[in-house]
Amino acid sequence: MTIKTATLNGVLTLEIARPEKKNAITVDMYAALAAGLRAAAAEPAVRAVLITGQPGIFTSGNDLEDFMQRPRQGLDSPVFQFMQALVACDKPVVAAVTGPAIGIGTTMLLHCDLVYVADDARLAMPFVSLGLVPEFASSLVVPRLMGRVRAAEKLLLGDPFTAEQAVEFGLANAVLPAAEVAPHARRVAERFNALPPAAVRESKKLLRRADEAEVMKAIAVEAEVFGRQLNSPEAKEAFSAFFQKRRPDFSSFS
Ligand code: COA
Repeated sequence: MTIKTATLNGVLTLEIARPEKKNAITVDMYAALAAGLRAAAAEPAVRAVLITGQPGIFTSGNDLEDFMQRPRQGLDSPVFQFMQALVACDKPVVAAVTGPAIGIGTTMLLHCDLVYVADDARLAMPFVSLGLVPEFASSLVVPRLMGRVRAAEKLLLGDPFTAEQAVEFGLANAVLPAAEVAPHARRVAERFNALPPAAVRESKKLLRRADEAEVMKAIAVEAEVFGRQLNSPEAKEAFSAFFQKRRPDFSSFS
């Protein structure tokens, strides 16, 4: 099991723990994340969820081997179950990000309520360079957050950005020294123990009401194109290049 789940002081922690593969998320790990979020929603003693990675790595995103061998099939597949569970989670979700947060490592943050990033955090959504397209409603939410031209830098060119920029764009609350991010995020999550739970849940629902339907629609529309691109020669070249530790060559594609 590479997602560690534990509940302590009213906070259910989902720890991405596969450091030997830079916390790349497999199909089974998405299923575990989805199950954890649903368990948090169902358990009255849980007041908030905390998502963390490992020191120096939040996640390198979707497992690229899985992209090749076990491509996502349909909206009931584990990755979409995870997306749905995160968007629908009626309890506050706090994220603590250290090191690289790539692909879904960044897009999942768009759906967390409070995000704390380490000074060593590096965020990136390099979908296009992998022959893919934006996912997890990032094509909708990222331009809204940072504006269309900066969204093009991050989503078309795949330019990475820093923790400070994440705060500037409104994607994260604060930058902290790496060792302080997880304890700080936990203290924030534990603050929900002292707040009235129904008022928190109803307020979270109200905060998300205006765009929840649009977000779910964007996830579905993106999923269709993403699924097509996943089987494209462009993506095959990008994945092969990654595992062969060489630069991809897209010069023969039109
Ligand atoms: N899927 C599968 N395996 C991955 C992975 C991923 N997303 N990211 C890293 N790994 C594996 C590497 O293949 C390597 O495995 P090996 O030791 O068996 O060769 C191991 O994790 C360590 O990765 P490495 O690239 O050597 O570490 P690094 O510190 O030099 O770089 C990253 C770290 C995260 C910058 C780099 O691994 C990376 O760019 N990963 C891919 C990110 C990506 O494109 N994700 C998909 C987004 S949609």
